[in-house]
Amino acid sequence: MNEELLTIENLSTSFPIAGQLYAAVDDVNLTVKKNEILAIVGESGSGKSALAFSIMGLHTRAQIQGHIYYKGQNLATMSPAELNRLRGNEVSMIFQDPLSALNPLMMIGEQIEEVLLLHESKSKTARSSKGSGQTRHSKKFRKEQTLDLLSQVGIPRPEYTYGQYPHELSGGMRQRVVIAMAIANQPHLLIADEPTTALDVTIQLQILELIRRLKEQMEAGIILITHDLGVVAEMADRVAVMYAGQIVEISSIHSLMSNAKHPYTRSLMSSIPTGNEKKTKLHVIQGVVPSLQHLPRQGCRFRSRIPWIEEAAHEADPQMHEVEPGHYVRCTCYKHFHFLDE
Ligand SMILES: Nc1ncnc2c1ncn2[C@@H]1O[C@H](COP(=O)(O)OP(=O)(O)OP(=O)(O)O)[C@@H](O)[C@H]1O
Ligand SMILES: [Mg+2]
Repeated sequence: MNEELLTIENLSTSFPIAGQLYAAVDDVNLTVKKNEILAIVGESGSGKSALAFSIMGLHTRAQIQGHIYYKGQNLATMSPAELNRLRGNEVSMIFQDPLSALNPLMMIGEQIEEVLLLHESKSKTARSSKGSGQTRHSKKFRKEQTLDLLSQVGIPRPEYTYGQYPHELSGGMRQRVVIAMAIANQPHLLIADEPTTALDVTIQLQILELIRRLKEQMEAGIILITHDLGVVAEMADRVAVMYAGQIVEISSIHSLMSNAKHPYTRSLMSSIPTGNEKKTKLHVIQGVVPSLQHLPRQGCRFRSRIPWIEEAAHEADPQMHEVEPGHYVRCTCYKHFHFLDE
């Protein structure tokens, strides 16, 4: 069951700023298989959403280079009409900003029904047992499915929310609606960009369980973008760590948890409470990913965060190194990095 669903090769996404192009996603390679959750972690500005939007073909002003193969078809060269057919049907996304994904002038229920209607052939196999026996063209059936979806994402009064408009809902409720829309057609590939950030813990667990069910029952491939390493440990099969537009480490969750190599990954991991807090002193210089125009483009991009590592430890042009089967790390500096109190 290890069939590749998505293969990204040498993907770079650049934005024009003051007449010049700057890459927010820089030479990214990754795969997502059926029945697999690939988590993408990395601090704010590292390019996670820019990568997700590139896969979905949603950038309007970006220059995209490289290949994005979905079931063997290159999304990067697909016509807008073909992409549209795929989006929201086989491939869907939960957006980080739920308001931007909703139409302010349409009732919540209508918006979800529209998704179901647009992709009727898929919604025929819908999950709602209540709806079985009714034709897929029936408005009543679609309404039942919509109410069912709203209750699956933890909306307490689905009938009431069905008739509400986006501005009438709280941020957390809107996020749940966006999640309902994204899973309405049981996509084969789901990109979830910080899907549970605005939600309280109980609802968060419910949503993660839905995503896991989508993976297991539909053998969906899932890209889960999150800041929450607890969620990663709980959900991911594999993890890609991004820093300044590049993947700096990619591996199975098991290998990453037991043997993280890149200094950035190790500093992230050390922030997970373990009970043994001895190590958590000073790992790397605190900071943020520099803005796009100021990203270091030459050498190891993480260099300035670990200035005590000598220059010679870094590669001039950092490559990915396989440290265990399927576990890759960028730059040779990982060999010289140690926590100050190790
Ligand atoms: N449309 C755009 N035009 C210009 N720059 C952009 C655009 N979209 C993103 N960027 C820049 O690209 C970089 C990566 O942004 P991105 O939104 O992908 O980060 P992220 O990893 O998703 O961060 P966060 O965790 O805060 O969501 C940032 O420097 C951002 O300012
Ligand atoms: Mg983002």
